[in-house]
Amino acid sequence: MNEQTALITGASSGIGFELARCFARDDYRVVLVARRLEELQEAARLLHQEFGGVDILLLPLDLSRPEAPEQLYAETQRRGLQIDALVNDAGFGETGYFADTDMQTELRMIQVNATSLVHLTKLYLRDMMARNYGRILQLGSVASFSPSPCQAVYAATKAFVLSFTEAVQHELKKQRSAVTMTILCPPPTDTNFFQVAHAEHTWAANHTASAREVAEEGYDAMMEGAARSLPTLAAKANFFSSLVLPDSVLATLMNTQLQEVRH
Ligand SMILES: NC(=O)c1ccc[n+]([C@@H]2O[C@H](COP(=O)([O-])OP(=O)(O)OC[C@H]3O[C@@H](n4cnc5c(N)ncnc54)[C@H](OP(=O)(O)O)[C@@H]3O)[C@@H](O)[C@H]2O)c1
Repeated sequence: MNEQTALITGASSGIGFELARCFARDDYRVVLVARRLEELQEAARLLHQEFGGVDILLLPLDLSRPEAPEQLYAETQRRGLQIDALVNDAGFGETGYFADTDMQTELRMIQVNATSLVHLTKLYLRDMMARNYGRILQLGSVASFSPSPCQAVYAATKAFVLSFTEAVQHELKKQRSAVTMTILCPPPTDTNFFQVAHAEHTWAANHTASAREVAEEGYDAMMEGAARSLPTLAAKANFFSSLVLPDSVLATLMNTQLQEVRH
């Protein structure tokens, strides 16, 4: 019996749910975080159905509120939970010309995708370093590698996550810490993402990878302590083209993927 605990934000659907499934399969106790309680309850029901006695704690929380990371940390402390694996998966996008999109939505996006990720990492990393054990998985994207016209703020949050993660990975090595941090950079993936981001009629939304496949690759990479996970050929192609092509060309390619297609 595995005595370890994993905390997964954004665990109610999509890639986050599939990551929670990997932990449940491996007998971790799982702490599932997202805003909507009913969705979390449905996720828990599915995990119980598949894995029987898995220990599940649901903590509904809106990570767009600046105080949410401290509240989450305080709640896990109050319950005496040691977090052995932290997955910062919660995130969303928005689509459209920056001049036209809603500023409040984008400020919430920066808070959820970037600020809360940094804050939760700070809180739990310190405890992990004190124990010299722990794994952190950050959700980047293929958008981490390129500017993305029509998802300008979203891609900028994911570029931030990549830069932040790579810098801390370097620090952990220098400090000879056994704590590992991995970034998962999925290609377009079949989840609620495109609907939430108002991008369901784009080329990308119609050329998606499976959330389970993406999550399992990310999970394995995290367990191996790998620096990054690039699931599927599409993610690898995005990464390698970002090494050789100028940003202006990458921006055009990303923009093409967000063109509307009608069937
Ligand atoms: N799907 C893709 O093509 C793709 C590609 C690359 C990277 N990603 C990244 O993968 C991660 C997961 O996305 P997904 O594709 O699995 O989409 P998803 O199915 O929409 O899942 C998003 C998750 O985040 C939670 N969430 C959203 N806003 C939140 C908030 N304010 N506070 C707490 N939780 C919040 C959602 O639950 P509630 O709505 O109940 O809060 C849900 O559990 C995101 O970081 C996304 O940027 C996705």
